[in-house]
Amino acid sequence: MTESPALNGSPIRTRATVIENRADGGGGFCLTLAVSGWPGALPGQFVMLSAGPRTAVERWDPLLPRPMAIYRGHQPGSAGESTEIQVLYKATGAGTRLLAEALPGQLVRVVGPLGVGFPSPSSGQRVCLVGGGTGTASLYEWAVRCARKQPVSVLLGARRAQELIGLEDFEALDVDLRCATEDGSLGTAGRVTALLEPLLADVKPEEMSLYVCGPTPMMRACSERASRAGIRCIVSLENNMACGFGVCLGCAVPLTEGGFSLVCKAGPIYDAREVDWAGLP
Ligand SMILES: Cc1cc2nc3c(=O)[nH]c(=O)nc-3n(C[C@H](O)[C@H](O)[C@H](O)COP(=O)(O)OP(=O)(O)OC[C@H]3O[C@@H](n4cnc5c(N)ncnc54)[C@H](O)[C@@H]3O)c2cc1C
Ligand code: FES
Repeated sequence: MTESPALNGSPIRTRATVIENRADGGGGFCLTLAVSGWPGALPGQFVMLSAGPRTAVERWDPLLPRPMAIYRGHQPGSAGESTEIQVLYKATGAGTRLLAEALPGQLVRVVGPLGVGFPSPSSGQRVCLVGGGTGTASLYEWAVRCARKQPVSVLLGARRAQELIGLEDFEALDVDLRCATEDGSLGTAGRVTALLEPLLADVKPEEMSLYVCGPTPMMRACSERASRAGIRCIVSLENNMACGFGVCLGCAVPLTEGGFSLVCKAGPIYDAREVDWAGLP
């Protein structure tokens, strides 16, 4: 497994108060939660969120929480005060549609931070971040931190312009930002790999680290291209999860060396060469 810096705080299990749950018009939502006792998080870590708000009557349907990247709020909170953390998500299935109904003042169960953070690039390397769909959310804080130290290219892809979540936040960063949309409504028409190929062709292997988060076919395609170019590629997997902390075995991913790894504990961050892509759906 890839190395990652030590985490300051242990995960907490708590009920967080919804501060805001704003729709962005493209089916995406930005949820801001006030969390007491927040220990802070590393870029790349995630939380498990209960699917719907807790109202006067405790509801357990759907039973399983949903994993969500921490978009903002990586600093630990001060003692006795609550910290605001943000999650960007898309209402795609039953759980996230319920989450989209959460109103300010309601309570949402939170467990986290979970998983490991992104490993650092070598000093002086160009960093290239590739985000597809909601995978973009996992990369934002990492882009912020990398951009303080080295040149960063951010390649974002989605089906259409409205689905490029977090775009305004990336535009505000000092990074080389390029977008691709499949319908051509913003940036290059086509897939995000069309933006990646010329970048990979232009660097020596030791000059770049690539970080990718998005749908599995996109991560597989980026991993293949990076492998051909000899460039280190780190992926953040978005497998379905049921518990989030290594108990249910529901998130296991096959490894090239044989056996399986639990994405919620050993991941979600992996060196792309560790993952047996042929064994993933
Ligand atoms: C580390 C990580 C970070 C993520 N970050 C984000 C993010 O920032 N924003 C975002 O929009 N999405 C993110 N996702 C994806 C997000 O978790 C899914 O889109 C979400 O779980 C879908 O939930 P749903 O209720 O809408 O869909 P549904 O299809 O209704 O439910 C999916 C959920 O059902 C359960 N489930 C389904 N099949 C099984 C099964 N076979 N066994 C056990 N349980 C099952 C699981 O709990 C699964 O998570 C992330 C995923 C991971 C792993
Ligand atoms: S989600 Fe349960 S073991 Fe990983």
